[in-house]
Amino acid sequence: MARFCVSNSPILIATGLSLLVVGCGKSSDKPTTTDTSATSVEPEMKPSSDELMTQAREIFKPIPVNAPALPGNPATAEKIALGKMLYFDPRLSVTHSISCASCHNIGLGGADDSPTSAGFHGQRGARNAPTVFNAVFNFAQFWDGRAKDLEEQAGGPLVNPVEMASPKEHVAQQLAALPSYHAAFARAFPNDPDPVSLANAQKAIAVFEATLITPSAPFDKYLRGDATALDATQKAGLALFMDKGCSTCHSGINLGGSMYAKFGQVEAPDVKYRPIGDKGRGAITGNAAEDYFFKVPTLRNIALTAPYFHTGSEQDLAKVVNVMGRTQLGLTLTKTEIDQLVAFLGTLTGDQPQIAVPQLPPSAASSPPPDK
Ligand code: HEC
Ligand code: HEC
Repeated sequence: MARFCVSNSPILIATGLSLLVVGCGKSSDKPTTTDTSATSVEPEMKPSSDELMTQAREIFKPIPVNAPALPGNPATAEKIALGKMLYFDPRLSVTHSISCASCHNIGLGGADDSPTSAGFHGQRGARNAPTVFNAVFNFAQFWDGRAKDLEEQAGGPLVNPVEMASPKEHVAQQLAALPSYHAAFARAFPNDPDPVSLANAQKAIAVFEATLITPSAPFDKYLRGDATALDATQKAGLALFMDKGCSTCHSGINLGGSMYAKFGQVEAPDVKYRPIGDKGRGAITGNAAEDYFFKVPTLRNIALTAPYFHTGSEQDLAKVVNVMGRTQLGLTLTKTEIDQLVAFLGTLTGDQPQIAVPQLPPSAASSPPPDK
């Protein structure tokens, strides 16, 4: 489905540090208040009704119902609206065919259902696209943690040669040539005399992504005190998940996203899952002791985001659980245990974001054409 271009890619947004804009920056447009940033009341935590629930509450946390605030980048309805437009705008890619939504499809659990994503001219990178849903709760971004947060991450794909492959001039020219973007940037950054910039695009995308959270999964209801939210098999899976040691790595709000760990902590995985060439964190830090360390991925909505692993090399969640038992814990799990663990993982699917596809600024006669 949306694999249009390249394979490896960090292309979209990040390319153009200098988005030159002509005649923008009039901040006379008054910010208008919309309902985009409406907040809901956080459900209460009822007293724990059993020991399993008490144990789970020490290790995991429910997803909040409201988007978390980003330090130094306050959310406004106008900024979220701009970030949403940029997220969906394929004209930020050099071929005008790929947007963030191509590889992080809102209807596919925030991922793309493909082992590796096709980016610029169908080129593929070496890694599976992680979900953007709940990514705001991860302590770092990318499989190897090379971006510290969503704002920094959003700079990568626009310009990545295998993703959106947009030379920064292209991003700059596009935004400059789309007059409606000038007003949208000015509304989102009313105090900035020169609001149309790549840096502001990254900020806007980050606040939009922070709204892509999936609260109210059965597991969240359970953590909040509803003992009936999980059935007996799912509870048995939760107990195994904690007792066997999965939760030593997969913990917190995201059941992951809070540490790095070696893929192959106890036993080396098959090379189809962990090819020799991708050293993960070790390639970033230059420390051989961290070779094959990856960010422990979130397990939120895991039932929606096959295929699995950083290589996207396994389609079957039961097989993934089996591999995890062996490679991370040195355990041979029984068929019943695997079924129970998979049943528990199914309780991590929350309410999916309801996003209306935004109307994008129409291209003008002066807009640069797509580069074939
Ligand atoms: C061509 C496909 C493609 C496009 C287009 C793309 N991404 Fe990604 N994205 C990926 C892949 C693959 C990774 C993992 C790369 C890695 O870890 O080395 C990734 C990683 C991420 C992550 C990190 C998530 C995590 O848990 O580590 C976020 C957030 C993200 N992308 C957001 C975006 C945004 C925002 C855009 C648009 C500006 C975008 N992506 C465009 C494929 C894509
Ligand atoms: C020592 C830390 C550690 C332990 C223990 C651990 N995992 Fe993982 N898990 C990881 C890492 C790291 C990855 C990413 C592997 C990769 O693709 O590079 C991962 C990946 C996964 C994935 C695939 C996620 C995705 O989006 O591709 C699932 C599912 C999973 N683990 C479930 C489990 C279960 C169930 C257990 C217990 C049987 C477990 N894990 C134990 C570290 C751990």
